[in-house]
Amino acid sequence: LWIVDKDVDNSDSYPQIIEAASILRENETVAFPTETVYGLGANATSDEAVEKIYQAKGRPGDNPLIVHIADYSQLDELVEEIPDTAEKLINAFWPGPLTIILKARKGVLSKRVTAGLNTVGIRMPDHPIAFELIKHAKLPIAAPSANSSGKPSPTMAQHVLEDLNGKIAGIVDGGETGVGVESTVIDCTLKKPVILRPGGITKEQLEEVIGQVAVDPGLINPKDTRPKAPGMKYTHYAPNAPVYLVEGNSNFMQEKINEKRREGLKVGAILTEESAKAIDADVVAVCGTRQHLETTAHALYDALRSFNQSDVDIIFSEVFPLKGIGLAIMNRLEKAAGHRYIIDEHAEK
Ligand code: TXA
Ligand code: MG
Repeated sequence: LWIVDKDVDNSDSYPQIIEAASILRENETVAFPTETVYGLGANATSDEAVEKIYQAKGRPGDNPLIVHIADYSQLDELVEEIPDTAEKLINAFWPGPLTIILKARKGVLSKRVTAGLNTVGIRMPDHPIAFELIKHAKLPIAAPSANSSGKPSPTMAQHVLEDLNGKIAGIVDGGETGVGVESTVIDCTLKKPVILRPGGITKEQLEEVIGQVAVDPGLINPKDTRPKAPGMKYTHYAPNAPVYLVEGNSNFMQEKINEKRREGLKVGAILTEESAKAIDADVVAVCGTRQHLETTAHALYDALRSFNQSDVDIIFSEVFPLKGIGLAIMNRLEKAAGHRYIIDEHAEK
């Protein structure tokens, strides 16, 4: 574990970053912070290194990894072509929480990275530690979120330790991540780009730059269609206790909580500051404010994880509008809840 100041330039953290980078060059795995969540990095050109990521996470082999770069010249080495839409998005949002799916150049990356697809997801993270680490490793770095497969993604080094201690070569601890949910994944190999995973860059932001963007129908109605990002079909982000999404006002949520308590269950609740004032549960994870849903995204995974430290039997969560960062929050909550809803049928819509 290396503890590194986020303000890399004005700290004495360089030796630690250089050590972590050299371990990546030895084809070992290192977890590091990005602006979204912690990633588990490995040399994307080495089968041996990439295999260690799948092993440590217990990740299904058909779920491809995102490749992280720190320099635009790396992009040309990795992909066949950069369509117009991709170029516009890169100019607008890199470095940042946007992963772009492009046609992979053959024979450069380990086949384990792309899981047999002829495309590759690439992003340039906006985090000084990630940037310096990739720069010093002088490699494209494959990095999925640094959690055990199925658990909420890590937003603190502590979360990485909980899941992967003993299974990886090291962790660069740079404090809490910023955005708190993963990058948006957009497929730019098609004429009309499609969002495969909502995330840190919103649909609205993308549309300002390239016009109308489609959303993979598998995300909205997951039972009907197979999502195009292989990772989106797996259960994810789930705490040990079952999660239910509650659509209704505070009184309705309180009634549902009270019903379960009368059955003798210990009830957890995921609430914003506003609702937490009005609702009482056995364990409450306060998740930002409804005024700024970015704060909810930031706190979400720690909230989901926190319930595994208490012995709650059931978890209720409030719901959020499907716009802006709300789309990414609801996508993660729906997966955590296995799409289970409790809806107030009497509420006015
Ligand atoms: O914010 C993030 O993106 C974080 C940080 C560490 O960068 N990484 C991350 O990686 O969330 P991961 O592996 O947990 O999620 C990658 C997602 C998966 O749903 C995967 O199926 C999809 O991207 N994906 C990767 N390559 C793809 C490809 N070629 N085509 C379609 N989907 C792809
Ligand atoms: Mg992940």
